[in-house]
Amino acid sequence: MPLTRPGDQLQMKNKSFGKTGIIASEYIFGTWYLPNNVTNGQKTVSKADSIKLIRKAYDLGINFFDTADVYRGVYNRDSKVPTYDTVGLSEKILGEALEGYDRDSFVVATKVTGRTGPYPSDSGANRKHVFSALNNSLQRLKMDYVDFYLVHVPDPNTGINETARTMNLLQNQAKILHYGLSNFPSHGLMEFLKLEHHEPPEFIQDKYNLIEREMESSNIKVAEENSLASMIYSPLAQGVLAGRYLNSGSEESRAKYESLYKGVSLHEKNRKGLEELKDFASSKGISMSQLALAWLLHKGKYIFPILGATKAEQLEENLSSGDISLTTREIEELENHFQNL
Ligand SMILES: NC(=O)c1ccc[n+]([C@@H]2O[C@H](COP(=O)([O-])OP(=O)(O)OC[C@H]3O[C@@H](n4cnc5c(N)ncnc54)[C@H](OP(=O)(O)O)[C@@H]3O)[C@@H](O)[C@H]2O)c1
Repeated sequence: MPLTRPGDQLQMKNKSFGKTGIIASEYIFGTWYLPNNVTNGQKTVSKADSIKLIRKAYDLGINFFDTADVYRGVYNRDSKVPTYDTVGLSEKILGEALEGYDRDSFVVATKVTGRTGPYPSDSGANRKHVFSALNNSLQRLKMDYVDFYLVHVPDPNTGINETARTMNLLQNQAKILHYGLSNFPSHGLMEFLKLEHHEPPEFIQDKYNLIEREMESSNIKVAEENSLASMIYSPLAQGVLAGRYLNSGSEESRAKYESLYKGVSLHEKNRKGLEELKDFASSKGISMSQLALAWLLHKGKYIFPILGATKAEQLEENLSSGDISLTTREIEELENHFQNL
């Protein structure tokens, strides 16, 4: 097994993950679509391809991986019939891909709350489910601990003291190092940050990109003000900002194999802005995805984009955006392309 250190092949920028003090690669590799479910009979990313991609990310200098207990899902995405066979499949593959790599050389984030089984207690952010879900995640990942553990979505049935205490207990047991919140409304995030008798969350994970900027003035702002790290999902609006649907060759895209995918309407609404983004990028001699990611990295000190690439070429292309610097004027211009839409 290759035991090179991440970063051997590329000068990847590493930075502090908020105030946790952990230094990790600025880019995270996400495993949401690894492997893909076979839906609509379309070609998908196989298990072997997924493993290759994860190792490719590591070789390119990424030492930070994101997954979730529910990836690739509870439901067969076409029939809506629950099937628990695919729960944790991405974790399993990530564990297999990283097995044999020095555990000190990378960090892993996984998540809990979504439904993982048929019993009433097989979901939520309560102690019973979280304890059992984390043990299952660790088993699938073949790891003793995860660096970062996330409440995937708010759980209306569980009090925040219960969730925070549960996370703190797991921290005390060294099964998780830090915990964070994903998809929380800002008032929910604030409630956690104000907890007095428990250690609060230290990072968030939310959707944020040049087209979808709802979180910019809420969670992202709160995170920056409190030195929390922001793991950013769908940084390319699921491929729309990479020009996935402007160019030919979208036959094997997420839009084709994922029946729940909403990116095409996002694309249509933003067609003009995307054409302008394309021109802007080519005037700078870079690709659309590089420009969209460079914009994101300029939006805060603790921003960590999670790349969801499904092909090695996409990954290589996206990773070179770290060196691109933009002026305040260019940032404004970019944002103007997607205003009033
Ligand atoms: N916390 C949450 O609720 C949550 C939700 C969603 C995601 N996430 C995390 O965030 C990660 C990233 O999300 P995402 O997959 O939506 O990210 P994304 O980077 O916005 O979208 C990834 C998709 O964009 C396309 N793409 C990427 N680079 C490209 C390039 N250079 N050229 C052309 N197309 C390119 C690919 O589409 P094709 O595959 O179609 O080629 C790829 O699958 C996930 O893996 C997961 O770890 C978390």
